[in-house]
Amino acid sequence: MMHFIFILLFVFTVLSLPGHNVSQSSVDRALDGPELPVDDEVNTCAVTQKGVNEYWRIQFNQTLTVKGMLLRLKGGNYSVEVRNSSNENDDRQICDLIYLPFETVAYLENVSCKPAVPMDVIMINRTNYGSLTLCDFQLRVCDIPCELCTLEDTCRHCDDFHYGPNCENNCSTGCVPESCDEVTGECSTCLVAYSGKQCQLKCKQKFTLILEHISHIFLYFCFRV
Ligand SMILES: *[C@@H]1O[C@H](CO)[C@@H](O)[C@H](O)[C@H]1NC(C)=O
Ligand SMILES: *[C@@H]1O[C@H](CO)[C@@H](O)[C@H](O)[C@H]1NC(C)=O
Ligand SMILES: *[C@@H]1O[C@H](CO)[C@@H](O)[C@H](O)[C@H]1NC(C)=O
Ligand SMILES: *[C@@H]1O[C@H](CO)[C@@H](O)[C@H](O)[C@H]1NC(C)=O
Ligand SMILES: *[C@@H]1O[C@H](CO)[C@@H](O)[C@H](O)[C@H]1NC(C)=O
Ligand SMILES: *[C@@H]1O[C@H](CO)[C@@H](O)[C@H](O)[C@H]1NC(C)=O
Ligand SMILES: *[C@@H]1O[C@H](CO)[C@@H](O)[C@H](O)[C@H]1NC(C)=O
Repeated sequence: MMHFIFILLFVFTVLSLPGHNVSQSSVDRALDGPELPVDDEVNTCAVTQKGVNEYWRIQFNQTLTVKGMLLRLKGGNYSVEVRNSSNENDDRQICDLIYLPFETVAYLENVSCKPAVPMDVIMINRTNYGSLTLCDFQLRVCDIPCELCTLEDTCRHCDDFHYGPNCENNCSTGCVPESCDEVTGECSTCLVAYSGKQCQLKCKQKFTLILEHISHIFLYFCFRV
């Protein structure tokens, strides 16, 4: 008989969670406090009392662009929302509505927030009657200056010479490296004798028309390199 061991590699451990603050609507027992889902221990759970709209809330000390989160929680109906603490009632986006049928089963839920939005508060709200039992919370974020981020983790920054979703494309040789856009590959500045949005065209001076008393007109012939 073979035994398979599955190892889940989590992307954002608690130690690297930015400064944060957790609270919940109520605490069932003294030992079921709000810190337990972020304690790196999957089997310790925050448990609220039974009720409607029982919630767990985490607030960060900075704005994060949340792409999603991995939750381990017990059965119930939930809404997962991201908000701005400055204006909690108006600035809210529901990332997911979750329906988990069996009260005593702990489920692993991979929640995506689409589009990823900047915010500093996450609310997990049980929308039907019962207690909210949240055992693990793992965050997937993108740093705020990022335009794109990788699927799993934080910000993707390309070096000056590459662009594309995984920085897999080379910026054109005609591009001044620092001016290569890491998303589109477009260059704001081309080297001399290059042209095109991505400076992908090499230009050779072909003809020079000299118009007397007016000016020189240089005609360039550009081709793909
Ligand atoms: C937030 O908290 C983290 C960890 O304590 C700290 O490194 C970071 O500088 C803080 N950020 C702000 C904006 O206060
Ligand atoms: C929880 O969700 C319910 C239903 O969406 C909503 O009416 C209630 O205001 C929410 N509670 C909190 C504290 O956000
Ligand atoms: C923690 O919560 C308090 C009160 O809700 C708030 O004033 C404080 O800024 C929060 N701290 C962080 C790091 O979010
Ligand atoms: C939070 O505020 C920022 C800036 O005002 C806004 O872009 C963002 O969409 C807000 N987040 C949510 C969840 O509403
Ligand atoms: C969670 O969802 C994201 C986006 O759909 C996916 O890339 C990631 O692999 C999932 N993580 C787990 C642990 O299932
Ligand atoms: C829980 O969610 C399911 C699926 O969306 C829905 O059919 C059911 O009525 C919900 N239960 C309660 C009590 O809100
Ligand atoms: C980028 O440049 C490197 C080195 O010049 C080359 O090995 C690689 O194939 C190029 N990649 C693409 C996508 O053109």
